[in-house]
Amino acid sequence: MTRRVRLGVAGLGRMGRLHAENAAAARGIELVRVVDADEGLARRMGEELGCAWSTDYEDLLADDRLEGIVLVTPTPLHVAMIEQAARAGKHVLCEKPLAFAVEEAERATEAAARAGIKLQVGFHRRFDPDWVSATARIRNGDLGDVYLFRTSLRDMSPPSLDYIRNSGGFFVDMTIHDLDTARWMVGEIAEVAAFGAALSDPSFADVGDIDNAVVTLRFENGALGVVDNSRVAGYGYECSTEVVGSKATVRVGDHRRLHTTWLSAGGARLDWVSDFIERYPQAYRLELEHFAASIRDDVEPAVTGADGVAALVLAEACRRSLDAGRPVSVSPAAGAAEAGSPRVASR
Ligand SMILES: NC(=O)c1ccc[n+]([C@@H]2O[C@H](COP(=O)([O-])OP(=O)(O)OC[C@H]3O[C@@H](n4cnc5c(N)ncnc54)[C@H](O)[C@@H]3O)[C@@H](O)[C@H]2O)c1
Repeated sequence: MTRRVRLGVAGLGRMGRLHAENAAAARGIELVRVVDADEGLARRMGEELGCAWSTDYEDLLADDRLEGIVLVTPTPLHVAMIEQAARAGKHVLCEKPLAFAVEEAERATEAAARAGIKLQVGFHRRFDPDWVSATARIRNGDLGDVYLFRTSLRDMSPPSLDYIRNSGGFFVDMTIHDLDTARWMVGEIAEVAAFGAALSDPSFADVGDIDNAVVTLRFENGALGVVDNSRVAGYGYECSTEVVGSKATVRVGDHRRLHTTWLSAGGARLDWVSDFIERYPQAYRLELEHFAASIRDDVEPAVTGADGVAALVLAEACRRSLDAGRPVSVSPAAGAAEAGSPRVASR
């Protein structure tokens, strides 16, 4: 029988609740403890899921039974919490982004490497069966030479302004998913050019952020790409990708919660997901099971801290491009090339 890997979850908000429920339900995981700064929330989740609960992150670190921590606290806390986990010898699955800035993210990956703990980053699309299958076939050559990469990530409605304020900004919080997908599916990115605007509500501009963006990409292999993102798409949640090649084109992205179509006079109505939690139940489960399996089998996770750093380098380049109003070149860093980590080279 598969050994159950003993995990704890820190942070039980929008995403943490989902990870905790998945951990409690997975056959190969024992959810030992959940922690949230909000005592009422921690108690409710602990009682609901039948595990220990408390309000102090130190309780996870001090629990000898725990092998790994799923870190779902606000982004500004990630790096210090990874460093603490590394000191305590606990493996970490950290929600994206690792940090706001590349140097901070590197502190986390270095602490993990020094301590010999596994550090997986929460790019859940890498576990979604649709994207996994498309990427495997691209790598197998079924698409031929890649010409174009297009991806859309649009939220129906934005998170709270409090969340936005602590998110690291649009590119670091949102576009980062697409930048990771682009690297994974097509290869390293040589240049980005970003346009963005606060269109739905002046509050975004008030906190120095945007709510819509378009980013164009030039890959090192010569392919071109375009990313469009919105926090306020209104009609529902959309996450779709298309890759055009010399032999074939693949489109990924099915947004139906149910596979029904209601036809009535002069029209048809499809069911459509409203957020990432409805769209990706399977991906989040598989992501967590992958983390547990990498601990159980003592192998590197498929999405590492280096991937988290590389995506952050690209997100920072998008920010610089938006600020400067021109494309920004990104080149592989000396010493980080092996991990596929690029660096902003020049404007
Ligand atoms: N992969 C994805 O699809 C995805 C989606 C949304 C959010 N995220 C990421 O997940 C992380 C959390 O986002 P969220 O939307 O769940 O935020 P949230 O604000 O809903 O939840 C954060 C929780 O952390 C708790 N917390 C704060 N400080 C704490 C501490 N010191 N110790 C323990 N708990 C503490 C808060 O009380 C809150 O319950 C962010 O890094 C975000 O970027 C990822």
